Amino acid sequence: MKTYIPQIKKVDPEMADLIKKECKRQEETLMMIPSENIASEAVQQAVGSCLGNKYAEGYPNKRYYQGQEYIDLIENLTKERAVKAFGVVHANVQALSGSPANLAVYLGVLKPGDTILGLDLSHGGHLTHGSKVSTSGIYYNSVAYILNKEGKMDYEAIEKLALKHKPQLIVAGITAYPLKVNWSKFAKIADKVGAYLMADVAHLSGLIVAGVYPSPAPYAHIITTTTHKTLRGPRGAMIMVTKKGIKKNPDLAKIIDSAVFPRLQGGPHINTIAGIGIALKEAMTTRFKKYGEQIIKNSQTLAKELKNRGFHLVAGGSNTHLILIDLKNKDVIGNLAAEALEAANIVLNRNSVPFDSNPPFYPSGIRMGTPGITSRGMKEKEMIKIATWISDIIDDIVRIQDKQELSFAQVKKSSVRKKIIASSKTIKEVKKEVLKLCKKFPIQGEY
Ligand SMILES: Cc1ncc(COP(=O)(O)O)c(C=O)c1O
Repeated sequence: MKTYIPQIKKVDPEMADLIKKECKRQEETLMMIPSENIASEAVQQAVGSCLGNKYAEGYPNKRYYQGQEYIDLIENLTKERAVKAFGVVHANVQALSGSPANLAVYLGVLKPGDTILGLDLSHGGHLTHGSKVSTSGIYYNSVAYILNKEGKMDYEAIEKLALKHKPQLIVAGITAYPLKVNWSKFAKIADKVGAYLMADVAHLSGLIVAGVYPSPAPYAHIITTTTHKTLRGPRGAMIMVTKKGIKKNPDLAKIIDSAVFPRLQGGPHINTIAGIGIALKEAMTTRFKKYGEQIIKNSQTLAKELKNRGFHLVAGGSNTHLILIDLKNKDVIGNLAAEALEAANIVLNRNSVPFDSNPPFYPSGIRMGTPGITSRGMKEKEMIKIATWISDIIDDIVRIQDKQELSFAQVKKSSVRKKIIASSKTIKEVKKEVLKLCKKFPIQGEY
């Protein structure tokens, strides 16, 4: 992995050392957090370029500072690519990340106190979809829909909630849902109650551009996305307005732009915008299409193998990039499972599962995804190995936990979990195998 740090080494060896260590950590671990990915070297160079020196408040041809000759061209090029890649009418590429992008949409089309209907956080939605601890649930009247007992979207129940609460905006989007969202069903519900339909495709945008996940463009009025997940760009976001959105409100593009600037943000990060433009160019290639197809093949192989090993997968499996395992049948909390896997260099995250009886800090599940490991070139053969390692480790820590008759209260203590992990021989053996695999699939910085 290229680290681009020779000058940092000279100026600030302490910081250079930390960056180098983090790069090494990424090289030597399996990146299986579904929202993470490896941006190409080209994207990383744009982010670290001179573009970060420039202030550019406003929009192309309407800036508040001089010196925008090339900046305007860069922003316009990225916007054009976004419009082409997603088949939309307008793209705002200035939102600084996914959360501010969603907030900008709410600022633009809602009044404080208006109603948002979004997927509950503990059922796979994002904080910004109306969680009471986020601005989306503090300044707006948020109502949450949940999954059915099988862990699947329940469109009839969503419709009933929409008819009851008459939201001004419905969010269709996911952070931890392993199946495809039916955009058309959401559109029918939104249209019935006259609501805006916002599709938050933060996790899905790369899959959509690759053509392996249905596009919400014909159904939603507004699409938001981060750019650093499956799209494999820099950390940033976009807000897009569709043809349907303009039909609902001809001023929607202008409303979104002025919500981002000046209502929410100041100067855009032009270095990030250039990185997004490069990522979009990379994503519109046949090579990226193959990458998208492989992400899903890998995820399905992993899901099948884990199921064969007795794991309970939320919604029964995966037809996307991510898998959510409900560990209740294994009698182990997500914290212990995720920490044990990390000790073997398999990095994923603990996660609540629908109808979780455990608190969010000690949830019953783990969430994993294949975008990062697929970027390194791993395929089905490697997924079979990884599934075996994951199940061997979890079986082993469950065995140790049971042998010591540890209660939930005891396992909640980090020191107890550390002891369990230190006593597992399986973890040590798997770590060696993971290191070998990582060496075989280096991070090359290509797209
Ligand atoms: C669906 C969804 N929307 C929005 C966000 C927020 O993005 P950010 O972390 O860049 O603010 C995330 C992040 O994970 C997400 O999954």
